[in-house]
This record gives sequence, structure tokens and C-alpha cells, in this order.
Amino acid sequence: MADRKLIMAGNWKMHKTSAETRSFVRELKTAIQDGTVPCEIIVAPPFTSISAATEEARGTAIRVSGQNLHWEDKGAFTGEISGEMLREAGCSHVIIGHSERRQYFGETDETVNLRLKAAMRAGLIPIFCLGETLEEREQGRTFSIVKGQLLKGMRDIALEESTGFVIAYEPVWAIGTGQTATPEQAQEVHAFLREELVTGYGSPVANQLRILYGGSVKPDNAASLMSQKDIDGGLVGGASLKVGDFVGIIKHGI
Ligand code: PGA
Repeated sequence: MADRKLIMAGNWKMHKTSAETRSFVRELKTAIQDGTVPCEIIVAPPFTSISAATEEARGTAIRVSGQNLHWEDKGAFTGEISGEMLREAGCSHVIIGHSERRQYFGETDETVNLRLKAAMRAGLIPIFCLGETLEEREQGRTFSIVKGQLLKGMRDIALEESTGFVIAYEPVWAIGTGQTATPEQAQEVHAFLREELVTGYGSPVANQLRILYGGSVKPDNAASLMSQKDIDGGLVGGASLKVGDFVGIIKHGI
């Protein structure tokens, strides 16, 4: 692997109250104190638990991410939240374009593009999710689907080597199903995405950009996934909800 530091990010979805968040982060801090952690660690709690996470994580290596944001900076958008609000609450990252947002909340490549731009304007590092459905994979359309999502999502977005930007490849059929992509299946798509990024942004930018894999990452498959050349970490749902499992993934055999 090029010298890209791994990122292990926990996407908690609609789980964990503030009190549960506090005790999770406290336990996580203790578990990673021994200095053997080989990666960046991020947790993405629901909006109302973000402050609890950032307060508990202060002074540690644990970073906090939002799970979504609106593309406008402010305004009459009931139920939405802005990049500046996430920043103020202590977030460094924000997940954008998760397949659950696409599937249940009408997210499109165009709104993903707007949200990515809003995140960058606010100084947040986006974790831009994309991935094909089972049907698309079975029809042999995986590469054209992820390419379309990548190009449309990143339209008019300039990246430099120093720009913080993270991509997460999450095959929809692997999310929450226990059916993980094999390391080879994931690597194939990651390498393809990196080649597309080389075309769009040049090698120096593409080679420093982290591409995470998401979809049923567990303590017992993390090491084989992370050993792949173009897999630079994990976006972990279910297995990030228990400290023991998440730490097992963070340390993946170390
Ligand atoms: P999972 O979820 O690890 O539970 O499959 C991953 C995600 O949705 O980011």
C-alpha cells in the first residue's frame, strides 16, 4: 500500500443516545490508550449525540463525523442541518451520499454533489459514499454505476494533494447483510475508482486519497480487506456499535 494512513470510521446510523455515546467513547478511549492503533478513528453518531461524542473525545485521536448535512448554509429547511452547525458541534468529517440516504430519502447524484461542496465550504472532510446494488452487479454494471456516481458526485469539485476528501465504496448488497465483498471484489472496484481519480485529478492527488470499504466489515474480515493495495480503511455500521468489535476492527490482528 502507498503510505496512506488507514481510517476506521463507525457509522452509527440511528443508534445511541447521548448517554450511550458518552459511555461508548469513554470505553473506546481506554481501549486505544496503549498506543498500538495504526489508523485514524472516526465515529459518526446521530446529530443529537454529536456534542456528547466531541466532549468525550476531546484531547484524543478520536474524530467525530456527521451522517449528513444540507447543501445550503442556512435557511427555511425544516429538519435539516448545516455544515457550519456540524463544525461548531465539533465534527471534522461528514458522511455524504450513503445508500440509505439514496434509497429512503431521495438522495441523488446531484444532491450529493451539492452536499459535498457545502461540506468543503464549511471546512468538513466529506466521506463520499457510493456503490452498486445487487441487481446492478448481476447485470455486470458495477463499474459503469460507480463511475457515474463518482463523476456526477464530484462534478466541479477541485482537489489538491492537501484537500481532505475521503471516498467510501459500499456495495449496497453488502450493507447490513453479513455478506461482505471478498477482498478481491472490493480491491477491483477500489483500483478502478483510483484510476478514475488519476484521470480526473492526476496521480499525486489520487494516490493520497483514502478509499474506504464498507459493507459488513467485522473483526474477522478486517485484516484481509485492509491488506488490499487500494483499500485504505473501513466504514463500519453494525460492528461499530460495540466497543469490542470496533476495537477488533481498528486493531485488525495487531
Ligand atoms: P454495515 O454498514 O457495516 O452494518 O454493513 C456499513 C454502512 O452502512 O456504512
